[in-house]
Amino acid sequence: MTEFFGNTETLHEIPVIRGFLDPVQQQELRNDLREVARIAPPFSPMTGWGKPMSVQITAAGQFCWYSDRKGYRYIEAHPQTGAAFPAIPALALAAWRAFETRVDPDCCLINHYREGARMGLHQDRDEADFGYPVVSISLGDPALFRIGGVERKAPTRSFWLESGDVMALQGDQRLAFHGIDRIKFGQSALLQKGGRLNLTLRRVAP
Ligand code: SIN
Ligand code: MN
Repeated sequence: MTEFFGNTETLHEIPVIRGFLDPVQQQELRNDLREVARIAPPFSPMTGWGKPMSVQITAAGQFCWYSDRKGYRYIEAHPQTGAAFPAIPALALAAWRAFETRVDPDCCLINHYREGARMGLHQDRDEADFGYPVVSISLGDPALFRIGGVERKAPTRSFWLESGDVMALQGDQRLAFHGIDRIKFGQSALLQKGGRLNLTLRRVAP
């Protein structure tokens, strides 16, 4: 059986398991994600303002988050191929189960940050039941994660997420505004062309 280690820190009320995935497990998950990307090619969704997002996204599981001029929603078929998304990799499911054992996730959203990519402050609120967490896995280059409160105007704080770290937005923090200020491009050798992958595991259906 695969063993998981890592130390849990609580940063601004957010549980972060540092090094949940060791370097070999990170490589294994990266390889699984290459296969996901082959079947479901990453794309850049449009923001509500009609500009492409700086991250590229794809997904594993039943649902993929999607955005265009019509707004935000979850889709069940790839927007270009029309095919279903591949199964969620086992190591990603293991990270979810470190926080939630009642049900498995039905969406593993995969964000790819290239040099200069970022993600503005937002809430994850398109899911049916906020009683389930959003569990995040970081791979590749470090990222400066920013977290605020459930009101957009609440003060924000930030901390670095490193490759192998797993974090959960849950409980009172489930609807906290959050985003990525920047990545330290080129620090990690995990991804062939550099950059960062972030996986967020979610339960979309009730
Ligand atoms: C997200 O909020 O969807 C991504 C956060 C991250 O990249 O760590
Ligand atoms: Mn989010």
